[in-house]
Amino acid sequence: MATPNSSSHQKSDATAMDAPGIDNGEEFGVHVFSSSSELLEKLHEKWTSGKEQPYPAMYSSVFGGIILDPAMMVIPIDDHMVHRGHGVFDTAIILDGYLYELDVHLDRFLRSASKARISSPFPWATLRRILIQLAAASQCKKGTLRYWLSAGPGDFLLSPAGCPKSAFYAVMINEDFLQCTEGVKVITSTIPMKSPLFATVKNVNYLPNVLSKMEAEEQGAFASIWVDEEGYIAEGPNVNVAFITHDKELVLPVFDKILSGCTALRLLELAPKLVEQGRLKSVRTANLTVEEAKGAAEMMYVGSTLPILPIITWDEKPIGDGMVGELTMALSDLLWDDMVAGPETQRLAIPYA
Ligand SMILES: Cc1ncc(COP(=O)(O)O)c(C=O)c1O
Repeated sequence: MATPNSSSHQKSDATAMDAPGIDNGEEFGVHVFSSSSELLEKLHEKWTSGKEQPYPAMYSSVFGGIILDPAMMVIPIDDHMVHRGHGVFDTAIILDGYLYELDVHLDRFLRSASKARISSPFPWATLRRILIQLAAASQCKKGTLRYWLSAGPGDFLLSPAGCPKSAFYAVMINEDFLQCTEGVKVITSTIPMKSPLFATVKNVNYLPNVLSKMEAEEQGAFASIWVDEEGYIAEGPNVNVAFITHDKELVLPVFDKILSGCTALRLLELAPKLVEQGRLKSVRTANLTVEEAKGAAEMMYVGSTLPILPIITWDEKPIGDGMVGELTMALSDLLWDDMVAGPETQRLAIPYA
């Protein structure tokens, strides 16, 4: 009986172009694209299936402009970010034609770049203008804006000395967002977390984060929780985490060894409203042990694209009564209202043409 491996060594009439990636023995031949137009035609095949193109626009400082053709949304293979992971990134979401918290994300982006010793090809204000014009050109009303600063293209060496100019890339992704109302399961990650130097910089080295997410998914969980070397709760693989104690305190792990999430910081600003209403007793950051955290009344993930995701089970044990927490949803409402109807300081109207 043929196994997937053995069949790839059998002879067949298929050419390499018919079945890319399958080695058909003697008949396997690597196609050489004889012209750019032939290659472009091939690249376009992927995007002409009739489905809506999910990436309406990209910016590349290497090209020096905005690209609308998805087939051309590429970055150079000799870019230091591609082959050495020497790059940083950030995200901002677009809801109903408004960019949410663009400026705080941009601040963190440039802080990350500075820690990664990448000098931006543009000042903050120009980066901001490019991102706004990209969002406008994309016509996207709901989605994610993702952007990268890289040491840039040059050569394939470890040192970026041969990369003369840093590069800025950004892409718009059409995506729908809804407030999360269902609770999820999480596990404690066994994948080692990044050391504080790297965890506090939003750099492109997300291998531990990816492995941690895969580990959780393999166990039927949504994602994982990292615990640091001292036994304190850290964060999730691409989200922060927050707890409500039985005394109705909102507690978030301190940010010294983890990414300071823009959403978590905004939550800390907004949550005192619930204290004023007498629904929460206090709002603070603290070092939390696993025991304290597992004994919380409510637990949630916090991140830009959520903004709050209730957690109801951790390592197969219920959090609180195992139901979506009332205060979790009250915090979710606070953030969601801020995203859809918050003040001008948080929301920027995209100047679509
Ligand atoms: C490791 C990590 N922690 C936390 C967060 C949450 O940050 P934010 O609220 O800015 O999305 C993210 C996402 O950017 C992340 O990648």
